[in-house]
Amino acid sequence: MSVIEMNGVYKSYLNRKRDTATIVLRNIDLRIEENEFVCIVGPSGCGKTTILNLMAGFERPTKGSVTYRGEEITAPSFKRGVVFQEYSLLPWMDVRGNIDFPLDRKLSADERGKIVDKYIDLVGLSEHKDQRPNHLSGGMKQRVAIARTLALRPDVLLMDEPFSALDEQTRKHLDQEIRDIWTKDRKTVVFVTHNINEALLLGTRIVMLSSSPGQILGEWRLGTGPRDMSSKYISDLRDEIISKLEPCACASAGKKVITIE
Ligand SMILES: Nc1ncnc2c1ncn2[C@@H]1O[C@H](COP(=O)(O)OP(=O)(O)OP(=O)(O)O)[C@@H](O)[C@H]1O
Ligand SMILES: [Mg+2]
Repeated sequence: MSVIEMNGVYKSYLNRKRDTATIVLRNIDLRIEENEFVCIVGPSGCGKTTILNLMAGFERPTKGSVTYRGEEITAPSFKRGVVFQEYSLLPWMDVRGNIDFPLDRKLSADERGKIVDKYIDLVGLSEHKDQRPNHLSGGMKQRVAIARTLALRPDVLLMDEPFSALDEQTRKHLDQEIRDIWTKDRKTVVFVTHNINEALLLGTRIVMLSSSPGQILGEWRLGTGPRDMSSKYISDLRDEIISKLEPCACASAGKKVITIE
């Protein structure tokens, strides 16, 4: 059984007057298997975040089904941990407090403390654990957000362009960290990115969506091992993926609008 399965998924949104709807996703069939690191790429507005929202349980499909280990996803669950592009940290709490805050209160303070310290250490923030978010850099804040999600020990990690707001060097560093965490933990990860190199570095599979309405345009399997980003294999793959990328579908250009009968 797949970890997450999308079968014949359509998603559309009604406009304000509720007489027309915009189709955002069309007929998505996607299976996420155990221990995969699936990178979803595609032009802006093609529905990548919508797919993650459906997997997280923040949204329901208009048609089709989205299941987690065979069960229909009807609501968010701690089993599917989400890391957003924005850090969404609590500014009045320090690093420890931010990671401790969502943990199960049935755990003792001591147990929670051990979990918090373990994940602070994992993301390399031990020296900053008593600092508040406004004293941290963007990269550090995103590490806190990752540690906070990992501390909940989710079965699946859903990441929506988690490093896109960061500078190139910090992003590369965090890419490596997330790859190391995945190698150690072998969690199932779904990772949305605009950055093809990031997808080539991290993904065991890359899934490309077309511009709106989003449909699956192509898939590439890369295996689980580390890869040589300067190899001919990766360079050819990069060229192939880029040649398939459609131009940005910003604003409403190309969007399919249907009338509700
Ligand atoms: N709640 C909503 N109501 C109406 N339209 C929405 C809603 N959420 C998303 N959309 C529309 O759905 C489309 C897909 O949005 P989505 O955020 O999934 O795209 P994306 O691929 O993640 O884009 P980006 O790369 O810019 O983050 C967009 O056209 C967006 O305007
Ligand atoms: Mg998005």
